[in-house]
Amino acid sequence: MKHFINLRNIPIRELKKIINDAKKRKKLRRNLNTLDSDPDQPLKGKLLIQMFEKSSLRTRLSFYIAIKQLSGGALTLRTDELHLSKGGESLTDTAKIISTFGNAFMLRTDSEEKLSTLKKNMTIPLINGLSPNSHPTQVLSDVFTIEEIKKKPISKLQICWIGDSNNVLNSLIEASVKFSFKLNIGCPKKYQPNKSLLKWANKNKGKIKIFSNSKLAAKNSDVIFTDKVISMNDKVNKAKKIKDFKNFKITSYIMKFAKKDAIFLHCLPRGTEVTNDVFLGRQSKVFQQAQNRIYVQKSILLYCFGKLRN
Ligand code: CP
Ligand code: NVA
Repeated sequence: MKHFINLRNIPIRELKKIINDAKKRKKLRRNLNTLDSDPDQPLKGKLLIQMFEKSSLRTRLSFYIAIKQLSGGALTLRTDELHLSKGGESLTDTAKIISTFGNAFMLRTDSEEKLSTLKKNMTIPLINGLSPNSHPTQVLSDVFTIEEIKKKPISKLQICWIGDSNNVLNSLIEASVKFSFKLNIGCPKKYQPNKSLLKWANKNKGKIKIFSNSKLAAKNSDVIFTDKVISMNDKVNKAKKIKDFKNFKITSYIMKFAKKDAIFLHCLPRGTEVTNDVFLGRQSKVFQQAQNRIYVQKSILLYCFGKLRN
């Protein structure tokens, strides 16, 4: 039994195994309906319990479909219906009960502490479906999407992130170290990534460059990423932050600095950080990116259950 909480704690050989398994499984599903099981039914009878302390569309749908395609079932708990949320039951007791009734637990949370308390108290796999500091299932899936479209290992590509230093970027930084790809980050000086994460990346041979000019960050890149300037529960002066990022919007002009065949990715939902023509344009692969969450999360679930094939 393994947890899936942050990319940095998972050995690269396991991350690569997840991606390879997802590739194989995706191919095998060409003629199947959304809820048809994969032929080997690897998680037959298993129950995934999921809970969202913050809004979700893609993570909710993709985990539901993922476990169904592996022949298991899913149950989504409403936080406002649990004793936990009203202070009527402890997190540790909740963790023990979830471990008794379910076979895996996927949580989107507003607190890193909750994740670590749960990790200590759960006897079933715990999956981080987004926390204040990371979004590992999203980013591993994005590595899959990039390799699928570019048809080469991500280590041979230059990835560019222009935008806020948020949970998705943190996981992308971890992925860049693990998968050894070049990562250019473009953001205003006062919104640079977390110093201790950058220190960890440098210590582990990270190939990360930070720019305060979005054109320089985008130059010669194979992939341009962005995300909302204001993340969920971001308690800042929103109008000021959006103004601070006014030179970091992805426009067709910025896309021209990247390689001709560069792609645009965004985990969604979107705000005002990208123009409509880029978001819906030829280079945008955001819907393929969203759908791939299903395939990669299936293989993440199999990793957690110790059922990944080589
Ligand atoms: N990208 C992503 O995690 O989307 P949701 O917030 O809709 O789950
Ligand atoms: N950074 C965004 C990602 C949403 C999927 C947020 O945390 O709101």
